[in-house]
Amino acid sequence: MEKMPFRDSEVVRDVQSVIATASPRTTATSDWRQGLPILSGSMVTLRELRLSDAPSLLSMLSTEEVARFISPPPTTVEGFERFIAWTHRERAAGNYVCFAVVPHGMDTAVGIFQVRQLEPGFSTAEWGFAIGSSFWGTGVFVDGAKLVVSFAFNVVGTHRLEARAAVANGRGNGALRKIGATQEGVLRKSFLRNGEYLDQTLWTILDDDWQRAKSVWGSQVH
Ligand SMILES: CC(C)(COP(=O)(O)OP(=O)(O)OC[C@H]1O[C@@H](n2cnc3c(N)ncnc32)[C@H](O)[C@@H]1OP(=O)(O)O)[C@@H](O)C(=O)NCCC(=O)NCCS
Repeated sequence: MEKMPFRDSEVVRDVQSVIATASPRTTATSDWRQGLPILSGSMVTLRELRLSDAPSLLSMLSTEEVARFISPPPTTVEGFERFIAWTHRERAAGNYVCFAVVPHGMDTAVGIFQVRQLEPGFSTAEWGFAIGSSFWGTGVFVDGAKLVVSFAFNVVGTHRLEARAAVANGRGNGALRKIGATQEGVLRKSFLRNGEYLDQTLWTILDDDWQRAKSVWGSQVH
């Protein structure tokens, strides 16, 4: 998450070059660029962000404990609205997806899962996540993570999914270990936060790893 964007503007890359270099698997399932599917788990629904999620995301993600180890989130409702509009543009351009995390029985987002391509066609991609602290330790993370990781491997065409977590981020690293990611190494002083360069752990999941995990978790993983 650390390097994942909380941006409200971005140079949109050339869509044609993305499509031209995409693998056949990706090209065949490119309709997520028109709009994200709704993914349903046992505790949460993942769906496209809506502008009306901005107030909820502000209260959930702008707290000190959530923002401590991630790129600074917007600090106003308008800032979150700009971020949400940016996520829609980047999805349409085929560069990035951002899912809202909506617990069953609620209407608004309590967190986000992001996936961005690290090379055209998403073959190697990076994911990140942030959830309001009132939902930590509830199972919401694992439920949503299974949905978004399966989406990356089965729909987007990713074969290697990376995540970076500040070494000091106990919950972030614990969550990645729990979901079955492999720790590949430490990226020294790779993340600037509050004027200090922090070391990050590089975690990866390969599509083969995920198929094995799926057989353990059974039908819960789609
Ligand atoms: C990362 C995040 C989405 C995970 O959600 P969560 O509900 O806290 O995750 P879980 O509780 O399911 O899993 C975290 C695990 O880390 C463990 N953990 C907590 N503190 C820890 C620490 N200091 N050291 C090691 N493990 C720790 C927990 O015990 C838990 O494992 P368990 O369920 O086996 O006990 C959430 O904490 C969050 O939004 N954090 C702020 C944003 C952020 O840091 N994003 C991640 C960037 S990589």
